[in-house]
Amino acid sequence: MPEMKLGLFIRPCGHHIASWRHPNAHADAGVNFERFIHMAKTAERGLFDMMFSADTNTAWTTVGSALNRQHYSAWLEPFTLLTALASHTENIGLVCTRSTSFDEPYTIARMFSTLDLISGGRAGVNIVTTGNGRSALNYSQQEHLPKPERYEIADEFVDVLIGLWDSWDGDAFVRDRETSTFFEWDKMHVLNHKGKHFQVEGPLNVARSPQGRPVIVQAGASEEGRELAAKSADVIFGASQSIEMAQEFYSDVKERLGRYGREYSDLKVLPGLSVTVALNKKEAQAKYDELQDLIHPDHGLAFLSRRIGHDLTAMDPDILMPDLPPVEDVGTRSGQMLELAKKENWTLRQLYQHFAAARGHMVLVGTPSMVADTMEEWVNKGACDGFNIIPSIFPDEFESFVDLVVPELQRRGLYRTSYEGNTLRELLDLKVPESKYAVPTV
Ligand SMILES: Cc1cc2nc3c(=O)[nH]c(=O)nc-3n(C[C@H](O)[C@H](O)[C@H](O)COP(=O)(O)O)c2cc1C
Repeated sequence: MPEMKLGLFIRPCGHHIASWRHPNAHADAGVNFERFIHMAKTAERGLFDMMFSADTNTAWTTVGSALNRQHYSAWLEPFTLLTALASHTENIGLVCTRSTSFDEPYTIARMFSTLDLISGGRAGVNIVTTGNGRSALNYSQQEHLPKPERYEIADEFVDVLIGLWDSWDGDAFVRDRETSTFFEWDKMHVLNHKGKHFQVEGPLNVARSPQGRPVIVQAGASEEGRELAAKSADVIFGASQSIEMAQEFYSDVKERLGRYGREYSDLKVLPGLSVTVALNKKEAQAKYDELQDLIHPDHGLAFLSRRIGHDLTAMDPDILMPDLPPVEDVGTRSGQMLELAKKENWTLRQLYQHFAAARGHMVLVGTPSMVADTMEEWVNKGACDGFNIIPSIFPDEFESFVDLVVPELQRRGLYRTSYEGNTLRELLDLKVPESKYAVPTV
């Protein structure tokens, strides 16, 4: 069985919505570069494949008056952060989100090719259409485009991105002083893209990436998102609450690959996983419960409202979750959350507590062997190729994962014991993509 892949999903104080209130969290982490260096170094100590940052283009990351109870409305811009972290790390992949709704493909192609060259082939971009519609108001737009249109743009955006990344053959730059030839003409390719949404002449003004192309990640789970991933992504992040959900997602996206002439191993599926671990179950549960008690009800209700797409902020947190229709435009998780609340007969408080640690990703609370059992089962039973680890508190819970769970996975032969390979593609066992201009060898 191939070794499992691990990504670290970063967020200043942690992913639990109340993390910053915990005495062990660094409440100033969002403006303190040293904290991120420590995160990156801990991830390399745990031999992680990559560290990943989400991104949104607005400070309005929750609704209503609870905004000031949240720690990640204002923090470092992720691409700049990763570029700085490249100099403090040696092996780990550096991946962050960019939006196809607010960026231009030429800009993104340049930025990530540059990060790739600076880091020796460790860059990746998570392509999103941006879930938070309020972002549009910061980009001279009246409102966010409807989802089908956003994905249509994303599809063309990624085609242009890949086309630009193939602008130069790997050996184009001969830099021959004798003949005064800096690069060879026939190894430069002009894209000349004229599409519905983008007109891009090319070529890119950055040389080819050391790993062929930066890694492309996709994180949407809708029909359109899955199709985009099957066509062009190297990694897909998911959010599954159970092994059954993860297996459905895994086989669905892998089966789509054939339509684009791709193989199963060309796309790695990494669902999110939140782990609270301690040497005994009771201690792990106590750590988890301590965080749940720190959620201010205003914040819990605001968080729920944004995720579900209905305003619940004026409601009593201890009433049963009302029967509401899913809101398609906030994403696939609205329906999943409503379904779960109905099935479990939960109050609003129970529902927001359930999602507070990891926003709909799988949550495990237990001993290192309990955690490793579940991770092993998911990988063995075709639910994923690895996990995107979502620590509830930084640095505490992430250090516990690296110190307690990683050795257990290694003992079972499920995880690497040293870094082998230099680029992110090598770590993820992904092929170096062939340029679309490559001459076929017969
Ligand atoms: C691990 C993970 C990371 C994500 N990161 C971002 C992000 O940085 N920015 C964003 O707007 N959406 C992010 N999303 C949300 C999705 O990309 C997508 O916008 C959302 O799921 C709605 O699309 P869908 O209906 O296709 O699922 C992320 C989702 C997952 C699972």
